[in-house]
Amino acid sequence: MKAAVHTRYGPPEVVQVTEIDKPTIKADELLIKVHATTVNRTDCGFRAGKPFIVRFFSGLTKPRATVLGNEFAGVVEAIGSDVSSFKVGDRVFGYNDSQFGAHAEYLSIPESKPLAAMPENLAFEQVAPSTEGSHYALSFIRTAKIQDGQDVLVYGATGAIGSAAVQLLRGLGANVTAVCSTEYVELVKGLGAERVIDYTVQDFTKDWESYDVVLDAVGKSSFGQCKPLLRPTGLYLSSDLGPHSQNPILALITPIIGGKRVKFPIPRQDQDMARHFKELIESGKFKPVIDRTYPLEQIVEAYEYVEKGQKIRNVVISIKPSGC
Ligand SMILES: NC(=O)c1ccc[n+]([C@@H]2O[C@H](COP(=O)([O-])OP(=O)(O)OC[C@H]3O[C@@H](n4cnc5c(N)ncnc54)[C@H](OP(=O)(O)O)[C@@H]3O)[C@@H](O)[C@H]2O)c1
Repeated sequence: MKAAVHTRYGPPEVVQVTEIDKPTIKADELLIKVHATTVNRTDCGFRAGKPFIVRFFSGLTKPRATVLGNEFAGVVEAIGSDVSSFKVGDRVFGYNDSQFGAHAEYLSIPESKPLAAMPENLAFEQVAPSTEGSHYALSFIRTAKIQDGQDVLVYGATGAIGSAAVQLLRGLGANVTAVCSTEYVELVKGLGAERVIDYTVQDFTKDWESYDVVLDAVGKSSFGQCKPLLRPTGLYLSSDLGPHSQNPILALITPIIGGKRVKFPIPRQDQDMARHFKELIESGKFKPVIDRTYPLEQIVEAYEYVEKGQKIRNVVISIKPSGC
C-alpha cells in the first residue's frame, strides 16, 4: 500500500510517499481503508521530534511510529475475531495518537480507541478533521467546567483548536470573545463569536472587559499577560507549555495560592469522544472547518503549510486508491 513514511526526525522532507506492507490486525483490531486524514500540529511535533519532551512518547533517538496521521475517515475493510461494534463496510471516523498510521491507504486500530460511525450525509474529507483540534478544545472546556452565560476569551480562534473551541463554547451558551487577524473576523463571527478582537489593531491583553476564562488556543500568550483580563477567580488555559514551560507548574501552584488560576488539561481519548463529535456534527452544533486539501502525494507541501503556523482551521489529506 501507499504510505507517507519517515524513519528519522527532521523537516517535512524526511517524509516520503512509498510502498509498504498493509498492516495486519489482531483479534481486537479493525483494518480501515483510509479515504481522508489530516496533517496537524500533533503530526508536526512527532515528525520533528520537537519540543524534545515529545520524544519521551515518540521514541528518544528515532520515531517509533514511522507512518503518522492521527485523524481519519474511511471504510472498515476487515475486523478481528473479537470485534463486535463494527462490521466490514461500515463508514467510520476516529482518532489515534498513540499508534498514528493514518497517512496511508490502510490503518489498523483497536476497537477501543476513539472510533465512531460517520455522521450521515457528509464526505470523508469533511469528517476527517473532527477529532484532533476539537478534542483538545473539548478538554479545555471540560477542565474549566465552562457553563452557560460565562464570558470566555479565545485567543487564536482560527486554528484547529480555536475554531473548534469557539463552536463548542457557543453550543454551551457561553459568551465568546475571539481574537484573530483582520482577514478572519467574519469567519470567526460565523463560528459563533459574539465579539471579535483583531490582534493586528488592538492588543487583546489590554481589553477593558473581564472574563471567567481565557483560553489561549495558539500558545502565544502567558498567564502574566492575561491575568489582568481575568475575574478574581478566573481561569487561564493554554494549548502550549508557555514561553518558559511554566504552564504545568503554574497549574500546580496557583490553586494553592488561590484567586486567578492556571489549568493545564490532559485530554481524554476514549471512544465516547468520537461519538460525542458525531452527535454534535449531526445536531449542527459543530462543523469541522477546512482550509486546504492535498493529495497524499503532496504531503510534504501540506506539512510545510501547516508549519507556517498560519493555517486557518484544518488541512486535509485526500487518499485515492492506487491507480486512480
Ligand atoms: N497541548 C497539546 O498537546 C497540543 C496539541 C496540538 C497542538 N498544540 C499547540 O496548540 C497550538 C494551536 O494548535 P492548532 O492546531 O490549533 O494550530 P493552527 O491550526 O496551526 O493555528 C494557527 C492559527 O493561529 C493563528 N495565529 C498565528 N499567529 C497568531 C498570533 N500571533 N496571535 C493570534 N493568533 C495567531 C492563525 O490565525 P490568524 O491568521 O488569525 O493569526 C492560525 O489560524 C499550537 O501552538 C500547537 O503547538 C498543543
